Amino acid sequence: MTNPTSDALVFFGATGDLAYKQIFPALLAMVARDGLDVPIIGVAHAGWSLEQLRQRARDSVTEAAKKAGAGVDEAAFAKLAARLGYVDGDYQDAATFTRLKQVLGDAKTPLHYLAIPPALFGTVVTSLKAAGCADGARVVVEKPFGRDLASAQALNRTLHSVFPEHSIFRIDHYLGKEAVQNLLYFRFANSVLEPVWNNRYVDRVQITMAEEFGVDGRGSFYESVGTIRDVLQNHLLQVTSLLAMDAPIGSDPAALNAEKLRLFRAMRPLDPKDVVRGQFKGYREVAGVAPDSDVETFVALRLAIDTWRWSGVPFLIRAGKKLPLTTTQVMVDMKVPPLSVFDAIGAEQSNYFRFRLSPQVVIAEGMRVKRPGEAMQGEPVELVVHHQSGVEMSPYERLLNDALRGDNSLFTSDECVEAAWRVVDNVLGHDAAPRPYEPGSWGPPEAAALAGKEGWHDPRPEAPQPC
Ligand code: BG6
Repeated sequence: MTNPTSDALVFFGATGDLAYKQIFPALLAMVARDGLDVPIIGVAHAGWSLEQLRQRARDSVTEAAKKAGAGVDEAAFAKLAARLGYVDGDYQDAATFTRLKQVLGDAKTPLHYLAIPPALFGTVVTSLKAAGCADGARVVVEKPFGRDLASAQALNRTLHSVFPEHSIFRIDHYLGKEAVQNLLYFRFANSVLEPVWNNRYVDRVQITMAEEFGVDGRGSFYESVGTIRDVLQNHLLQVTSLLAMDAPIGSDPAALNAEKLRLFRAMRPLDPKDVVRGQFKGYREVAGVAPDSDVETFVALRLAIDTWRWSGVPFLIRAGKKLPLTTTQVMVDMKVPPLSVFDAIGAEQSNYFRFRLSPQVVIAEGMRVKRPGEAMQGEPVELVVHHQSGVEMSPYERLLNDALRGDNSLFTSDECVEAAWRVVDNVLGHDAAPRPYEPGSWGPPEAAALAGKEGWHDPRPEAPQPC
């Protein structure tokens, strides 16, 4: 069965931050690349005119182009501006949706993108249905998908009361990243990995998502989430699932989803004793943050996956703001050889696979080779097996394109999202204050103990590599 491509794109929250930072640049790239040739309708409650929205789009793409060191594609922008429509109105008011229906005209499969706070999802989808805008339509919902397991279940019930599961696209932009997709590809396109990708050969896995910046400009949003809800429950557990899942029986969304779900279900719910929450010093002074806030800006944890493949292998995950650099890196440490024949080899010198997921895309393998000379002494080297740079599709462009085509391979299903909440549900309550840490450090000292005597691999800036 082929999915019809959506014949209109509606985005709620058109005057908001996400639209400014991600959606307009993605739309421009889509127009430039494939000619996204459908009406694009922004909806917001801001008292704006269409001209103001066009100006906002112009500012957004100009800023994005400047960051990328490029110019705006003027021909593409002219097309985008011509296709833009705008409906201004209160989401609580049925008249807003009646106007939207008129603007949609005879569109049969519109895509509605909810770039709005989750508290409004219910109102918007119910009103879409009442106004006749939901028939044959698809809906994209932004993260965070709920605040905990119970609210995610409630949200799923609300969405399902209007849209069938195959028409719901829960976005996690990490799944749209080239490097994250490559993780999946690399694992299942190279038979050499499978024999060692288990607890007989893997000693431990570490995932670090470090961000050098803080939460300036997003204080009140961050107060409502914290690191566990912001990036762990979604981005980092998704990365873990791709690293650890079994081979899917095909590349279709159902097959991928089935294996991911099995893996999510095998993740043992986190025990508070295996989690260290931290807060950088100075966080409480950020605008929008409570002066006595106990929201975490850092988390480190030890996760167990109860399968034959992974039993006994710790998955050590950490993420935080105001860390020494911005990067996301996975390290898969292999066990040391059973016997050191030449020089003694300690766990810190083991073989490993290193996946740098951002800002660069790198796959490397850590090995030992003999140091030139008389003695049978070794030294560690790294074989960089993959390095890629250059202009790629942004995750938002990729994911919006897929949603328009009805392809949900890179979106999270209702069952996976709930299974991921089940893993973190026990540790969402703030029963202890987060541990303070210095900005520019690797988090609170208590996090070190979680990693045991081998410690954490602190990512370093990536050395330039030849392509
Ligand atoms: C977002 C979080 O989902 O992901 C942010 O809300 C975080 O807090 C961002 O900074 C990181 O994404 P990326 O693509 O820049 O690694």
